[in-house]
Formats: sequence, C-alpha cells, structure tokens
Amino acid sequence: MTNSSAPIGVFDSGVGGLTVVSALLDQFPNELIIYVADQFHVPYGGRPLDEIQTFASGISLFLADQGCKAIIMACNISSATALPLVKDNVSPLPVLGVIQATAKQVASTSRSPRIGVLATAGTVQTQAYSNLIKSENDKASVLEVACPKFVPLVESVQTESVESLLACTEYLQPMANAGCETIILGCTHYPFLLPMLRKAASELFDIPPTFVDPAAHIGNALRDHLAATEKCGDRNHIKAYTTGDVETFR
Ligand code: DGL
Repeated sequence: MTNSSAPIGVFDSGVGGLTVVSALLDQFPNELIIYVADQFHVPYGGRPLDEIQTFASGISLFLADQGCKAIIMACNISSATALPLVKDNVSPLPVLGVIQATAKQVASTSRSPRIGVLATAGTVQTQAYSNLIKSENDKASVLEVACPKFVPLVESVQTESVESLLACTEYLQPMANAGCETIILGCTHYPFLLPMLRKAASELFDIPPTFVDPAAHIGNALRDHLAATEKCGDRNHIKAYTTGDVETFR
C-alpha cells in the first residue's frame, strides 16, 4: 500500500499537461503533484510511435522512483501508444491516460453524434479516439484532423497571434464541412488555443460546436483509484521538472 500523502506524477512533452494539472488541482486541493515536461523532445506529435513509448516509459519510471502513488499521462499521444507498456513497467501503481474517459463520454452525447478530433499527427495515426468512440457507439461518425502547427505555437507562447487564428481556421474547416457538433481537443496543449478556436469557429460554423477538454474527465477517473486505497494528503503544491530549458519552461 502506498503512502496517502505521496505525490501524483503527471507528465507531457511540454507545457500542455499543465492544463491537466490545473483541472487536477481544482478537484484535489490537498494533493502534491510532480510534473515532468519533456521539452527536450517536444513536439512528440510527428515522431515515430516507438520513440514516444520509450520517452513515456522513461518518464514514468522516474515518477515511480519519486514515490508517486499514481501516474497521469497528461499527453494524448503517450496515452494512445504507451499506456499498456507503462502500466506493465510500474505495476501495481495506477496509470491513467487522457483518452479513454473522454471517448466514452462524447460517444454517448447523442444517438448519431458527429465528432471531430483535433490532435497531433501521431495520435491521429493511431485512430485511438475513433476506435474507442465507435466501440461505444457504432452510429458515431468521427473525423480526426492532425494539427502540426499547434504545439509549436503554444510552446512559443504565440496563442493569440494571427498565425494561431489562421491555423485554427485551417484545421476547423474540414470539421465545419462535415457538420461536427462536438470537437475534442485531443492534445493537452490545445486548451491554450481555445479563444482562437472559438473565434475561428464563429466564422466557419452555423451552430458553434462544443469543444471538449479531456482534462475535465481525468480527475473523475483518478478519484475512483484514490478513493479505493488512499486518502488525500494535506498539502497542495507542485514540483516541476523539465528536460529542456528551465527559464523557458518557467
Ligand atoms: N500534449 C501532447 C498530447 O496531448 C503532445 C504534444 C506534442 O508534443 O506534439 O498529445
């Protein structure tokens, strides 16, 4: 049995996973979080999938060594490619990915939902969202669009630039054409672009789509695990590591 005041480990390729940390802190105000940003390797999106598995394994073992009581993969592409491997590596620690709970929830929003998924090239390649959504609801139609321009824009803090608006318009256009009603932000960096996505959507869609941030669902999944075996600690703070430049990360 792990120590209830032990930290929760969270990781991503960069700052994107902080959108998940923010949601976790809202739901677990007494927890200590150890966050790893693998900025030496960001972006993960265009890399071979076996390389992502190697990165995710290494970071998870580091977090397990820090005494974490659970590990959250706050990274869609890691969740899509490395979840079984990481679970094996750090067993019996609970390991949660960001995709499963979201796919289940959006699949049940209507009888024949038209769902768009904005994601990195690697996540789109796995078709993880499409497969999981269709396994829950075979009447769902899912359009996944790779957005290679988004992560570099977020990592370089250009979320409010003209380039961002143009990129949002480019990636949302096929979803508007397909009449998507629900759009999943299938990369943890993308919630930082929500104002620009909403602005672009207001020009492209007759009825504004609902944007879904998977970070909202991960806390509920974590609560199931912690409630079963743990009680919350009494501190709430974050210890953060980056494999890249500390000042840039700060
Ligand atoms: N934020 C990550 C994800 O959710 C990875 C983005 C990247 O580095 O390309 O997929």
